[in-house]
Amino acid sequence: MVEHLIDVERVIGSSPIPRTMKTLTVLGIETSCDETAVSVVRFDEAKGTAHVLGNTVHSQIDVHAAYGGVFPTLAKREHQINLIPILMKTLEQAGMISNAAATTKEQKIPAAVGEILSRETELLEAFKRSVPSIARPDIDRIAVTIGPGLEPALWVGINFARALSMLWNVPIVPCNHMEGHILAALIENTGDASAHFKLLGENIAYPALSLLISGGHTQIVLMEKAGSYKIIGETLDDAIGECFDKTARVLKLPYPGGPRIGALAAEARAQGIKLATPLPRPMLDSDSLDFSFSGLKTAVLYAAKKEKELTPDLVRAYAREIEDSVTDIVIAKMRKAIEGYAPGTLVIGGGVIANGHIRTALETLAQECSIKLLLPRIDHSTDNALMIALAGYFNRNKATDAGVPLKAVGTLPLGPRI
Ligand code: KG4
Ligand code: ZN
Repeated sequence: MVEHLIDVERVIGSSPIPRTMKTLTVLGIETSCDETAVSVVRFDEAKGTAHVLGNTVHSQIDVHAAYGGVFPTLAKREHQINLIPILMKTLEQAGMISNAAATTKEQKIPAAVGEILSRETELLEAFKRSVPSIARPDIDRIAVTIGPGLEPALWVGINFARALSMLWNVPIVPCNHMEGHILAALIENTGDASAHFKLLGENIAYPALSLLISGGHTQIVLMEKAGSYKIIGETLDDAIGECFDKTARVLKLPYPGGPRIGALAAEARAQGIKLATPLPRPMLDSDSLDFSFSGLKTAVLYAAKKEKELTPDLVRAYAREIEDSVTDIVIAKMRKAIEGYAPGTLVIGGGVIANGHIRTALETLAQECSIKLLLPRIDHSTDNALMIALAGYFNRNKATDAGVPLKAVGTLPLGPRI
């Protein structure tokens, strides 16, 4: 499986921040959906900087594609198989183990560690073969996603984090996946190397409005100050990424549909291909900041059924119209939210912001309204563990030790709905 690993960071030609009392090194672990991800990030508290020492994302897309969506029990099994190789690879990137090919001989681990992983038998076996053979890495916190997400998948990451925490005696910070998506936009490359970032956290103009658009969420969040999140709008049915994925399925495009629709829509625009009958823009003109995407999905389903043949050009035309519809809705809601809350900053997060068309539309909106826009780097938009290390650092004072049970919360809210 190692050849499937995707390196999203390569720490080339950059020396790590020297280890001083002012640095805090966080191991991030993310398993909330179909990406298994681990990162090691060294934070310098005095300078407000982050240096990514290691960052690996393994996508399970190939495994789930056959099912047309994420299959939770399969995701759980894949996380169990992938976590150890990804941890080893990431620690190796971080220069924290001299030999990533750890012994394959099973080694003794404390009974309490075995107990924590007793439900993840495959992971436990791999853990016993590898982890005790490496020296305790120089990390100060383990940050792990506890929700929202698929609970079977979340549990694997949580128990893995607890087992490592117990073995290495490192406190754990439970993290909210959606806060991670927000924080991924609150960093800025410092220019000296792609793995060095400045943390923007407290230094942006508040109140800020955050738009979170992913496979499971579509939310507008009011941030009156750093770390304060109030939901002011959300989807009443499907999430925006879900809409991309489901309409792509209707068009017989592979999972995940978002990137495919984005690519085909760009081709349609370049070739001047347009759908003859526009698709609806549900709730575009409603007074609320809530969204609805299931009507768009149904409209695509019925319209596509009526087509004699879904030719490649027709699929491109649908892709363009779906992307246009979704973009129009997002921009209309954000415009309304800006009018209502007069934010100083817009902070965007979630996998769907990898979409170039939506990025450009938000850039235009921010320019028109003279508001600072913060977008995550494309490779930090979809799920990754750098964002979880950022959440772990941000919440570093909320750490617990391994003995404290942590619970996966599939619907973990980011804040109250107001
Ligand atoms: O944040 P994310 O990686 O996982 C969740 O937390 O849900 O978001 C995944 C979603 C999927 O629905 C995927 O189709 C969508 O993000 N996505 C995109 C693009 N890349 C990923 N949607 C539109 N255009 C893209 N380029
Ligand atoms: Zn996500």
